[in-house]
Amino acid sequence: MQIKSFEEYEQTYALSVEQPETFWAGIADNFLWRKKWDKVLSWNFTEPNIKWFEGAKLNITENCLDRHLEEHGDDPAIIWEPNDPERDSITLTYKILHEQVCRFANVLKKNGVQKGDRICIYMPMVPELAVAVLACARIGAVHSVIFGGFSAKSIADRINDAQCKLVITADGAFRGAKQIQLKEVIDDALIGCPTVSKVVVLTHTRTPVSMLKGRDIWWEDEIKLVDTHCPAEEMDAEDMLFILYTSGSTGKPKGVVHTVGGYMVYAGYTFANVFNYKRGEVFFCTADIGWITGHSYIVYGPLSQGATTLMFEGVPTYPTPSRFWEITTKHKVNTLYTAPTAIRSLMSFGTDPVRGQDLSSLRVLGSVGEPINEEAWHWFDEEVGHGKCPIVDTWWQTETGGLMISPIAFVTPTKPGYATLPLPGVQPILVDEQGQEINGNDVSGNLCIKFPWPGMLRTLYGDHDRCRQTYFSAYPELYFTGDGCLRDADGYYRITGRVDDVINVSGHRIGTAEVENAINMHAGVVESAVVGYPHDVKGQGIYAFVIFPNHHEDAELTRKDILQTVTRVIGAIAKPDKILFVSGLPKTRSGKIMRRILRKVAEGETANLGDVSTLLDPTVVDEIIDAAKQA
Ligand code: PRX
Repeated sequence: MQIKSFEEYEQTYALSVEQPETFWAGIADNFLWRKKWDKVLSWNFTEPNIKWFEGAKLNITENCLDRHLEEHGDDPAIIWEPNDPERDSITLTYKILHEQVCRFANVLKKNGVQKGDRICIYMPMVPELAVAVLACARIGAVHSVIFGGFSAKSIADRINDAQCKLVITADGAFRGAKQIQLKEVIDDALIGCPTVSKVVVLTHTRTPVSMLKGRDIWWEDEIKLVDTHCPAEEMDAEDMLFILYTSGSTGKPKGVVHTVGGYMVYAGYTFANVFNYKRGEVFFCTADIGWITGHSYIVYGPLSQGATTLMFEGVPTYPTPSRFWEITTKHKVNTLYTAPTAIRSLMSFGTDPVRGQDLSSLRVLGSVGEPINEEAWHWFDEEVGHGKCPIVDTWWQTETGGLMISPIAFVTPTKPGYATLPLPGVQPILVDEQGQEINGNDVSGNLCIKFPWPGMLRTLYGDHDRCRQTYFSAYPELYFTGDGCLRDADGYYRITGRVDDVINVSGHRIGTAEVENAINMHAGVVESAVVGYPHDVKGQGIYAFVIFPNHHEDAELTRKDILQTVTRVIGAIAKPDKILFVSGLPKTRSGKIMRRILRKVAEGETANLGDVSTLLDPTVVDEIIDAAKQA
């Protein structure tokens, strides 16, 4: 499946556009199917209705596990590096991972889980998390993994939206110097979740936990009661594989649905190609499995290709800012796939931590999640890659399932800050506000995709109409990404950032409306408006303008109370970086907040605010500017 030269890329790309079905059928032939498809693709972007490999039967875990056993059963599938470098790392071979997945799949079955049931997973970055994910897929249960930084309320909303039957969690998680009490958070969440009848709890941090009789069971006890024989459930290509919640412009997170066949082909194909993975190499994706990057490039993509995937429990700066480089040295990492925010944070510690380590094993570097600034790109290139590793700046989204616009390592000439060119099968177009295609080069517009690809979302769980409205209604017959983009004179794409009310904080997507709703829940808050602003390390920070007439004399105390509320309602990841108390917000006569003005204030660019004549009360703006200057 690997493309070897730029010429071959151009030919492959042309084929994928001219004969998409032939192209994707050829790629899909590299996977294991119990029965091949009757039809490669049927689609329309109006409803939308997208079906890939209709009629095909498979199980994704047979592709990720069983098919490697005979020849590569003793190859390492997962290398786990713990938070604490003093603890031993763990290697699971394909044979052992297969056994563990089968065993845990039997635990799920024994506890009443059936094909199609939704399972919530809220776990630390330990091998058992990958085992839990794959065990669901083995028996056709739909996993909904929730990142360990979300609050009880966020979890409850997600569990209720998907009507999950069972939760898999652990006593706690280590993250750097901190411990997170996962089970306690789940206990709080489950007070409001009537559909959950069982909770499987893994022992990890050994924190004391409450175990409710009849509901809570220990992972370690359960696996002793079952054997390792678990035939894989036969799935239709279009059966649901997982739900992953992500933020949108409205307050309610969206349950993005991916299906088995197309997702598998897309994650596997993009992994093999973009990273130029060679069997035996160690692939280190630093994301958490709670995000799409972890789903596609820690679990499904690498394992479908028989790769060795490295799972790291901790954070880049613990116990020291050398940690990524120490891991690279220790495990002879060949590909390091990380986020610009991590690079910027590590850059701030200077070159000593990175120069002290042996990074000679590195062959390919990757970046994901947010635009990478040139300074970070060059530092990554020079200090980490020593000028000899291609950097693949991969643009994609939770909804796209896999990489969309990205260089292919050793094939596509790279350019700092550019995701470069679309991968085979991906047909991007730029449109103006009216939806007219913007042709030619050296142009910019809103990024849309005009033809389906196998990894794309199929619906939003329980709300197909929201899926249509969010992605397929802004511009008829196009998938709208929500991103702004420019295409330079060479036809290279550079993603400039979200054009909707979503902000990207440390590579995590956060809806401004979600944060506003959370702030507004705090007693005393009348109204709030949240915008993003440029942040040196996080890419974007969260700036909240809050109307709070009678706040505490010590404004700092009130700020902390608000942060606490946001942490309770969403989770610590959504805490505003700045809170400004104001007495009014700039609104139009029809009551709409003019965020454009707030963004300028947040960026400190108040000299040219543009037209404010449509505001109901233009004096509000001066007051906000004064308050911001004093803050
Ligand atoms: O704005 C784009 C940004 O992240 C958004 C998708 O976020 P999420 O669904 O959480 O997935 C993140 C990991 C795939 C996009 O709409 N984004 C992602 N990758 C890049 C990027 N922006 C610029 N360059 C990238 N390489």
